[in-house]
Amino acid sequence: MQTDSDPTPAGRREVSQRSAANHAGMDIDVAALDRLLTAPEQSDDVILDTRDASVAARWHPDGPGARYLNIPYDEFEGDQDAAVAQLPENARNVHVLCARGISAVDIAEILRERGIPAGIVGGGMAAWARYHRIVRVTRPDEAFAIYQIVRPAKGCLSYLVVSGKQALAIDCTRFTDVYRELSERLGATLIGVADTHLHADHVSGCSKLSSGVAPYYLSDEDANGGTLRYDSVPRTIEVGETPIRVLSLPVPGHTLGSTAFHVRDRYLVSGDTLLPNGVGRPDLGNRALEWTEYLYDSLTGVLGKCDPSTAVLPAHAGAASDYDSDGACIRNLGDLLAAQLSADRSLFVERVSSAVAKTAQPAEYAEIRRVNLGVETPEQRVAELETGVNQCALKR
Ligand SMILES: [Fe+2]
Repeated sequence: MQTDSDPTPAGRREVSQRSAANHAGMDIDVAALDRLLTAPEQSDDVILDTRDASVAARWHPDGPGARYLNIPYDEFEGDQDAAVAQLPENARNVHVLCARGISAVDIAEILRERGIPAGIVGGGMAAWARYHRIVRVTRPDEAFAIYQIVRPAKGCLSYLVVSGKQALAIDCTRFTDVYRELSERLGATLIGVADTHLHADHVSGCSKLSSGVAPYYLSDEDANGGTLRYDSVPRTIEVGETPIRVLSLPVPGHTLGSTAFHVRDRYLVSGDTLLPNGVGRPDLGNRALEWTEYLYDSLTGVLGKCDPSTAVLPAHAGAASDYDSDGACIRNLGDLLAAQLSADRSLFVERVSSAVAKTAQPAEYAEIRRVNLGVETPEQRVAELETGVNQCALKR
């Protein structure tokens, strides 16, 4: 959560994407689900996930505002009394979540017949996987705005830096309409779209969003071997008619070409180099020891020279507790560096190496990297590859 030394107040939720909490009866949509989950105090609402336990364990909505429970559909088909008995007695509203919002209708009906207030989460997990929350992280009195665009299902965080009528998008998900619509709503034109690095956990939408509109920026090191048209990340990107300067900082370690974007010395879009509870895994190139050394140099020699009060805007959150009550994930640079660099170089390398040894890369990461380098892939396969929360962080 934020600390007293953070330069920003709590983030402010701007819009709920395509918010349409007007479903009939007890049903809610995923925007309403998000508001429910991110409330700071737990309500009597229950999210009842009826998918198979192994699928639900891989990813499911979570947050402080509601209780989450997995009771697979099969259990309702078997001993219905036993299945219903697993619900807490004080459940005020039960929101039934399935894969696509279809089979949940049956379960909600069963519960209502038993006098338990229940409805479905419209669109189910498929809709949750596409949902994005948009929070402004800059203060209202600042001359520019940064929006954090959160895809909570995967814990992916992306950004729109807006100054005047121009915008720079960073680390976009493949749901590019979100960024296009936000820019249009703000009256801003995209002047660039950048990836902080070649992502391994999710399919990037940056190249697609930029197509025919603006340059797509990626580092040469991370673009190596790919077929995408890109521009090398410039040293500075100016956004706005009275330009704000976005400085690109090379921070190799998580990938060879990892880049952080420093906005007005106050905000650091850090990619996966610094995450809320750790650093980005340095084993994606299968040269973990060498890249861990680079990571240490990036943390000490590059980020360590920035003002410690800088607000870090990472590319990923891990758990629901990484977000503040507005749904934003913002950290203080000094705090994060102190947590990571309490040891000297050799101890840092040893600790990271041992964490790498215990945390294997997910099998699909190599394929996702190929997709992000330009390999054409059917939509269904892309959706399969993206199932599950990100595993980019090596936690302390
Ligand atoms: Fe990453």
